[in-house]
Amino acid sequence: MRNRIAAANWKMNLTLDQACALAGTLVETLKSIDLGGKQVILATPYLYLSTVADIIKSNKNIFVAAQDCSEHLSGAYTGEVSATMLYSAGITHVIIGHSERRTYHQEKDEALKTKVENALTNNLKVIFCCGEQLSHREQMKHFNLIEGQLWHGLFHLDETQIINCAIAYEPVWAIGTGVTASPAQAAEMHSFIRKLLIEKYGESTANEISILYGGSCNEKNAAELFSNTDIDGGLIGGASLKADSFIKIIQSL
Ligand code: 13P
Repeated sequence: MRNRIAAANWKMNLTLDQACALAGTLVETLKSIDLGGKQVILATPYLYLSTVADIIKSNKNIFVAAQDCSEHLSGAYTGEVSATMLYSAGITHVIIGHSERRTYHQEKDEALKTKVENALTNNLKVIFCCGEQLSHREQMKHFNLIEGQLWHGLFHLDETQIINCAIAYEPVWAIGTGVTASPAQAAEMHSFIRKLLIEKYGESTANEISILYGGSCNEKNAAELFSNTDIDGGLIGGASLKADSFIKIIQSL
């Protein structure tokens, strides 16, 4: 059975005090909510990871993720943080291939492939992001684009590795814009991704892999999106910065 996941991507937001307050409120509120096997993941800035990990440690359904890791494992790479370092600090998850990293840091498939390998070698679970620009969709190239991103960045993994990954489909045109993919558009792409997983890894492995939707997902549209069989939860930006909204999203899982 694949996990149902609400993952918060805080991006470069919140001061340390605000981050602690938000994590504290989530832990406190989720005490009285039975999450069952559902998972909540908080992707915080590197600087806050250990502090937030400490705040959430009483709830075994909440995890902390880094928003990226280096493609190198150690050495003279000023400003970088490696998968080895994350694991050594008790971090369990990492986001790799977010469109903002691909766009603003020119991260290419080859580097992402190495990051994924480094993360898995260091026992981290990976949330691998893919997503098309609006122009790809307008030209009907979005399926090819997503297929290419998955084949080049993720599908080099074998079955024992891929089950430690979740995929986040985040159409770039929906991120931070208030324009959500319609449930039909999201469902169509998620089932396409599931089909690719089945073709590459077989049905039973493919059914173990969570596929999350991201892009202006909020407390109003989450339930409808998550009701689709191939949408196993969300990767949430803006709406994860407000405890009330994020808790409603978690309850929609
Ligand atoms: P928004 O929810 O703010 O659109 O961001 C989505 C995202 O990029 C999550 O990684």
